[in-house]
Amino acid sequence: MKRIYMGKTKDVYALEDGNYLLKFKDDVTGEDGKFDPGANTVGLSIEGAGMAGLKLTKYFFEVLKAKDIPTHYIDASIEETSMKVRPASVFGNGLEVICRYRAVGSFLRRYGQYAVEGQPLEAFVEVTLKDDTRQDPPITEDALDMLGILSSKEYKELKELTKRIGNIVKEELAAKEIELYDIKFEFGRGKETGEIILIDEISGGNMRAYKDGRYIEPLELQRLVLGE
Ligand SMILES: Nc1ncnc2c1ncn2[C@@H]1O[C@H](COP(=O)(O)OP(=O)(O)OP(=O)(O)O)[C@@H](O)[C@H]1O
Ligand SMILES: [Mg+2]
Repeated sequence: MKRIYMGKTKDVYALEDGNYLLKFKDDVTGEDGKFDPGANTVGLSIEGAGMAGLKLTKYFFEVLKAKDIPTHYIDASIEETSMKVRPASVFGNGLEVICRYRAVGSFLRRYGQYAVEGQPLEAFVEVTLKDDTRQDPPITEDALDMLGILSSKEYKELKELTKRIGNIVKEELAAKEIELYDIKFEFGRGKETGEIILIDEISGGNMRAYKDGRYIEPLELQRLVLGE
């Protein structure tokens, strides 16, 4: 097993069978010791964060599998805090696709002149470049096409897939009386098939979820959703 990438919250290993293994760590993104799912730096380490993230990820990817949504998921080992996935090639050096249901985070920082905090956004999709040195800049459909990162046809497919998956997660949370404000996804092209698949993780580290108007931290989210 060869480590091929050390990420902020996960390490990636190449398995002998050609698949990848994602090892979830206790590091979470944030700034000044405070957790922030939108941050680009490791802000702190929370004991149990890796396992909680994997448990939720496993849960959501299995929900998606049952609905025939294409993802990289193969299986997961909670004890080993790792997940086996199909390798994918990312678009450019990687994109983040955000689905927004209420105005918070970077949306509000950018558009605060026109939007108020918590305003409904009805599954508004935004794409950003994974580029830490440039603080993950938002990018338009035209720019993605012009720069050869993603064709307009692929953009439309990505946007529809994002809304479908976002709505599934939103409904899963709503069943526990939790409201999804926003969520971040990553996609890639599946190695053998070339089709667009959901990759990476779906956990408290990638979304903002609220209950009774109160923000739910990742570890609590895992307990509330999985009833543990
Ligand atoms: N199926 C897959 N095939 C290839 N790469 C993948 C797959 N699933 C996830 N990845 C990549 O593995 C890496 C996991 O690392 P990690 O989640 O720590 O994020 P990161 O790259 O450091 O940055 P960020 O926190 O901004 O997402 C990411 O670069 C992600 O794009
Ligand atoms: Mg990541």
